[in-house]
Amino acid sequence: MSQKQDQWTSKLGFILAAAGSAIGLGAIWKLPYVAGMSGGGAFFLIFLLFTIFLGLPLLLTEFTIGRKTQHEAVTAYRMLAPGTYWHWIGKLGVATSFFLLSFYSVVGGWIVIYFARSITEGIGGRGAEEFEQLFGQTISSPWLAIAAHLVFMLMTILVVQGGVQKGIERVSKIMMPALFVLFLIIVIRSVTLPGAMEGVRFFLVPDFSSLTGQTILFALGQAFFSLSLGVSIMVTYSSYLKSNESLPRSAVSIVGLTIFISILAGLAIFPAVFSFGLEPTEGPPLIFIVLPTVFSSIPFGSVFFVAFMALLLFATLTSAFSLLEMVVASVTKNDPAKRKKAAWVCGLLIFVLGIPSALSYGVMGDVLFFGLTFFDALDFLVSNVMLPLGALLIAIFAPLKIKKDELYDEMQKGSAFKRSLFNTWYVLVKYVVPIAILLAFINTLITGGV
Ligand code: PHE
Repeated sequence: MSQKQDQWTSKLGFILAAAGSAIGLGAIWKLPYVAGMSGGGAFFLIFLLFTIFLGLPLLLTEFTIGRKTQHEAVTAYRMLAPGTYWHWIGKLGVATSFFLLSFYSVVGGWIVIYFARSITEGIGGRGAEEFEQLFGQTISSPWLAIAAHLVFMLMTILVVQGGVQKGIERVSKIMMPALFVLFLIIVIRSVTLPGAMEGVRFFLVPDFSSLTGQTILFALGQAFFSLSLGVSIMVTYSSYLKSNESLPRSAVSIVGLTIFISILAGLAIFPAVFSFGLEPTEGPPLIFIVLPTVFSSIPFGSVFFVAFMALLLFATLTSAFSLLEMVVASVTKNDPAKRKKAAWVCGLLIFVLGIPSALSYGVMGDVLFFGLTFFDALDFLVSNVMLPLGALLIAIFAPLKIKKDELYDEMQKGSAFKRSLFNTWYVLVKYVVPIAILLAFINTLITGGV
């Protein structure tokens, strides 16, 4: 425990890394397809409410626990509640990260394939149907899907074995703003396609008749997924932080950025879906069919597409780093001597666990668990059960095991956090978050929405 921890080298480093963990496939790949399958606008509205009223306070909670203890998650919970079972929240986070990264990396692999293809073949003037077929062919080839998943995991391992602090900071400063700019270009093209308004309406105008118990649970899972919450990753990341950074301000910026990129993703995808006569219910392949189609209708689309895939790959990698970092930091208790070996062993195990997911859109497409492919079943378990469960436990833990004044003191370091805002946070975390999560679980069980 006396180990000297690595620290972020600048204030910006922490923000970029935490935002890098948050912004990734959740907002860009998952949100559009889950919203598409769950009726659009009503889902998105509930997702926004959950992100602001549950996600933001929880993010601040994870930050506070991490910086206060200056230790990775499992040790952090142990220090705050010695001799109890509470450190299992950290272990649950490790298990969740393990499962999550296994299928996350499969999608990362799809991006690797698309990136490579966009360079070698370009996208030139094809239509939506051809891209749909192309996706099917690409993904259903078992060796290609597995090899791409391996490449993605290797990239993740190579960065995490040397410590995330060094890896992420410098590159993110350029890549993140570039991603926003390219996204804006796609949005402009997408909303100006013929018939685009129907898609804008689908995404932004809520139709509550489409709501089911399941939609609410999915929106909850999506809110936690896209902010990297419930896994205690934000505990581990903020433990590398000195006391001069404002935690509330960081939390607000990250939530703001995530919401912004989620809106961009929706506005990039849905207008195009409707304009091209596709179904919003495509599921996980959705963006891989829609985006190339949009790019192929933009001048110099092939060039933009290469750039976009590179940036998407980067955004996906920074989230993957945080997932592997969570596992490695807790397995090694941050002992630098063990980091390298742990990164390789854990990373390769995650690769193996991901193989059935990599095959789920190909040879294992017919192997179903509760009516879902291995990939979808694991995603359901992680996003809609494990993440909300982790979030519930963290929300119960913090007010119970840390004194109110200590919480306030920690949040005030590096910021002038008003007492009234602190009290609002306290009420949200102590009452609103646990009740909302429990209600969403109970509601799904009663309506049998799974
Ligand atoms: N937030 C990441 C994304 O949106 C995924 C993630 C979830 C990362 C949970 C870490 C923990 O892509």
